[in-house]
Formats: sequence, structure tokens, C-alpha cells
Amino acid sequence: MPHVPRVAIVPGSFDPLTNGHVDLIRRAARLFDRVVVGVLVNAGKQPLFSPDERVGLIRDVFRDLDTVEAQAFDGLLVEFARRVGAVAIVRGLRSVADFEYEEQMTLMNRHLAPAVETVSLTPDPAVSFISSRLVKEVASYGGAIDGLVPPAVAARFRDRHTSSRKQNV
Ligand code: PNS
Repeated sequence: MPHVPRVAIVPGSFDPLTNGHVDLIRRAARLFDRVVVGVLVNAGKQPLFSPDERVGLIRDVFRDLDTVEAQAFDGLLVEFARRVGAVAIVRGLRSVADFEYEEQMTLMNRHLAPAVETVSLTPDPAVSFISSRLVKEVASYGGAIDGLVPPAVAARFRDRHTSSRKQNV
């Protein structure tokens, strides 16, 4: 029988991509033939980085892995899953605090698209305390974010800081 490539989606806001996300995406890439990182264009929230910047950073960080790609998506995740032919949605489960939200999302997505399975992966404990929200908070107070995000993302924060200081002088 011909091998049908198994495609998974790793969806999220990725505002910004953290080392926790990198760990998750690399784990997903070991399980699936192709991984599409889906960057939500969240009209409701006011993101720090534009969808194009977030997609560009993910492509840059995973340029060594040709089975990983990044795309922005708007609307329902299951519709995006259908469009890319995904059989699975991969999410990270860092702790019990994540569980309720993740379970609710899993069951809703299963209700909407029973054929698409959600796979929860446990990250490396060395990165399981990292969240995009806390990275932004630390950076906003001038704290060091090296080791929490890929170097390209840390550099982007530095660029932002430099340009906002220039605007203020
Ligand atoms: O990284 P996040 O912000 O926790 O990711 C949340 C995301 C993008 C997976 C979720 O908000 C989502 O799938 N949004 C798309 C809209 C949708 O399909 N909503 C119903 C899913 S229960």
C-alpha cells in the first residue's frame, strides 16, 4: 500500500515562539511526516508581533527541518486542519493547570471534526515553565529572556526595544 503522509498541525498564537514551543514542534516532527505550525491571526487579541513576523520567525527557527512549515490561519482550527489535510492537532500539556482548557478544546474540536485526533505531548521539564505571556512580561520590564526563546526571537525583542527608545528621544 502506498504510504500516505501523516500531517499534523501544531496550532497556537506563538506571540512569540518560545523554547517550549520549539520542544513541542520538534517532538511532533518525530511523530508525523509533515508538521504545519498554524499561527492564529487573532483579531480579538492585540498581539505584540504581527502574523507575518510570527510566521517568519518560526520558518527561520525551523529552517533545518524540511518537514516543518508555518502558515497563518484565521477562523476555525478544524477548518484549517481540513485544508492542510491534517489527521492530528498537537498540543503541549505542561501541567494540570493546562488540562481543563486543553480538554475542553479537544472535545470541542472532536465534536466539530471527529476524524481529527488531538495529541497532547508533555514537554521537557526544563522548558515547561515558559509561556509567551510571561516572556512578554519579563521583557517588558527589561528582564533577560535568553534561554526562554530562540535567539532569533530574543533578537527581535532587542530590535523593538532599540527602535522604541529611538522614537522616545
Ligand atoms: O497558543 P494558544 O493561544 O493557547 O492557542 C489557542 C488556539 C489557537 C489553539 C485556539 O484559540 C484556536 O484553535 N483558535 C481558533 C478558533 C477555533 O477553532 N476555536 C474553537 C476551538 S475549541
